[in-house]
Amino acid sequence: MKAVTWHGVGDIRLDDVPEPRIQDPYDAVVRITTSAICGTDLHFVRGSVPDMAEGRILGHEAVGIIEETGPQVRNFRAGDRVVIPSTVACGVCCYCRAGYYAQCDHAHPHGRRAGSTFFGGPESAGGLDGLQAEYARVPYAHVGLVPLPDTVDDAQAVLLSDVFPTAWFGARLAEVSSGDTVAVLGAGPVGQSAVAAARLQGAGRIIVVDGAGDRLELARSQHAETVDFNAEDPVRAVVDLTGGIGADRVIEAVGVDAELPAHGPAAARTGAWAARFAEERDRIAVQRPADDGAWLPGDAPSLAARWAVSMAAKAGSVGVVGVYPPHADAFPVGEAMQKNLTLQLGNCNHRRYIPRLVSLVSSGALDPSPLVTRWSPIEDAVSAYESFDRREHRWSKVALTVSPAGAVSPGEGAGAGTGAGTTAGSGVQQL
Ligand SMILES: NC(=O)c1ccc[n+]([C@@H]2O[C@H](COP(=O)([O-])OP(=O)(O)OC[C@H]3O[C@@H](n4cnc5c(N)ncnc54)[C@H](O)[C@@H]3O)[C@@H](O)[C@H]2O)c1
Ligand SMILES: [Zn+2]
Ligand SMILES: [Zn+2]
Repeated sequence: MKAVTWHGVGDIRLDDVPEPRIQDPYDAVVRITTSAICGTDLHFVRGSVPDMAEGRILGHEAVGIIEETGPQVRNFRAGDRVVIPSTVACGVCCYCRAGYYAQCDHAHPHGRRAGSTFFGGPESAGGLDGLQAEYARVPYAHVGLVPLPDTVDDAQAVLLSDVFPTAWFGARLAEVSSGDTVAVLGAGPVGQSAVAAARLQGAGRIIVVDGAGDRLELARSQHAETVDFNAEDPVRAVVDLTGGIGADRVIEAVGVDAELPAHGPAAARTGAWAARFAEERDRIAVQRPADDGAWLPGDAPSLAARWAVSMAAKAGSVGVVGVYPPHADAFPVGEAMQKNLTLQLGNCNHRRYIPRLVSLVSSGALDPSPLVTRWSPIEDAVSAYESFDRREHRWSKVALTVSPAGAVSPGEGAGAGTGAGTTAGSGVQQL
């Protein structure tokens, strides 16, 4: 079968690989109809999240049709249409039962304290093959799959695999509630989804910070207020926009590949830190791509976290969903402590949120599909990755068409084009 595979930093390929098989009674094999490329995948190709195995199938976002189930998968049958949560969880241990699926005791082959397990990631994340492939093996399929009604199309559903639940989780970590002013760092797909998630959780105002014009434009189309860090100092802008107070809640949706501003007042201010950031980057991204301008790790790994803390109001709260590898250790603990901030962070407990989010889309309360900005056949996945890496115009969320038989085409689900789209109103009960 065709699959997108990792061969080294800056080296991904479309390979022919063997089809997966059921290995355990709780497994299912899913034929993928639609997959997607994520900012998390970029960290692996840039080397800023290391420990990838050569030949690993990439991808952790997908929708598909069940091909086969193991004998202990009692709630699904072949032919069911499903979305696959990115993190793998057993559904049995005390963590899963309490909703902390990303901290499952059984999913990681290296034991209880080895960390979160997700598809298509490094060995430290379980070393499981991913979902940018024609078929995928899903362990613990009884909780590792969520059924989809045909009212939810593939574009909407693939955003519910990772991006939207992560944004929802980020808003919960930041403790967003009625009337809050929320700052979102990063206007990639996760940051864009955080606009809708924060609004659905009651936010009064949402301010989005990024340096990419087309992404800020997309945020503005969701009626977020936008700040371009290449034109303004984002901390000063957020403090000014909030009457000198700062944002009540901050969602950090950038992670370890944060970039320095190229120009403007923030460039002047952060320039003094360039050597320190370079030292952080060299420690984090040990393997580096050949220096041809592609797959470059961010040049300021802790900058988004620093800005998040600085733009928060005193006694405010910060939720970090931007990804950092285990050995990233620069965080402005002193400033956060002095401001009495509440900090929460982590890998999304996808399975906790996806079923309710499927219902929200199906009911028309939420339509995330405008956030899919490009479609590409899986055969062109490598060039789609390259365009996404270079942040080419509107290469923001790339969905991959894999094997369309059985897919619900974009716009054909009843939820598409209904409700208020990604600008849906507030008042949804907390998940
Ligand atoms: N915690 C989780 O479970 C989870 C799940 C999915 C994704 N993620 C992470 O969320 C982050 C965002 O994902 P994405 O798909 O939107 O990625 P992306 O790469 O498309 O978006 C990142 C955005 O951050 C912007 N940016 C760069 N430097 C910045 C800075 N200093 N300040 C503000 N913005 C800056 C970039 O211009 C870009 O638009 C990634 O780190 C990804 O790994 C986490
Ligand atoms: Zn993802
Ligand atoms: Zn578990």
